[in-house]
Amino acid sequence: MIRVELEEAVALVTIDRQEAMNALDVGTLTDLRGRLSELAADESVRVVILTGAGEKAFVAGADIKYMSNLDVEAAKAWGALGHEAGRLLETMPKPTIAAINGFALGGGCELALACDIRYAASTAKLGQPEVNLGIIPGWGGTQRLARVCGLGIARELIFTGRIVGADEALRIGLVNAVHDPVLDKAHETATLLAAKSTVALRTMKELANRALGGDHEENLAAEGKTFGELFSTKDAKEGLAAFVEKREPKFVGH
Ligand code: HXC
Repeated sequence: MIRVELEEAVALVTIDRQEAMNALDVGTLTDLRGRLSELAADESVRVVILTGAGEKAFVAGADIKYMSNLDVEAAKAWGALGHEAGRLLETMPKPTIAAINGFALGGGCELALACDIRYAASTAKLGQPEVNLGIIPGWGGTQRLARVCGLGIARELIFTGRIVGADEALRIGLVNAVHDPVLDKAHETATLLAAKSTVALRTMKELANRALGGDHEENLAAEGKTFGELFSTKDAKEGLAAFVEKREPKFVGH
């Protein structure tokens, strides 16, 4: 089951299937995709935090018992469902933060990789152990791990299936910080981001998503165009004026 709690402009999404270390079965993943889609469209929500219920696991992956009976077509559909959830986290027009409170393995690590920012509890363990099941990361791990940690590290981790602890995850750039309790850190950043200009955040996210793909010149041109266009917004006028007038800015989101 997926729980969504709203506190001011921050949505906390908790994946709760503790009897299976929050592994994702069809019902849970379908529910997650639906809730993420709602949150993406809800303008009152400015930041989304994703975490797992309990103290042991963020998400221990896709449900292995379910996958053990899939044929080719069903496996493709299963991969596509996880991709949809990942794309929502990656492209929704607001920051997404993974609060990794324990095991983030396989599909769990992949969901975290689709978020904009990752924080880990000191007990967290992350990795892509799919190779040990004779399969491959199928929810973005072959692509996003390389984008986050670099191709050399990504190849080692996906080829060997080696699990890393929180300190190593921090060292290789897989997580942004290690903090206990991890949700406090996620909330602290979420509160900070919720006070910023939503139009600036949305635009930066869009541009940052292009940073490692496409044509560099075109991406820079898109940045230049967007930078200019933002000067028609109230938020740009307010942010610049507030500095000049030595006061805190009040952003309205357009
Ligand atoms: C189904 C899972 C599960 C999973 C844990 N469980 N992970 N069930 N799918 N991915 C279940 C166990 O079967 C067990 O239930 C219960 O959760 C507790 O787990 P234990 O193994 O008893 O706990 P522990 O010894 O502490 O070990 C924790 C663990 C281990 C290290 C996380 O459970 C583990 O290795 N899990 C699998 C991790 C993994 O390989 N993930 C990647 C999956 S592939 P029962 O009822 O049996 O006692 C993937 C592909 C994504 O994610 C892309 C798809 C397209």
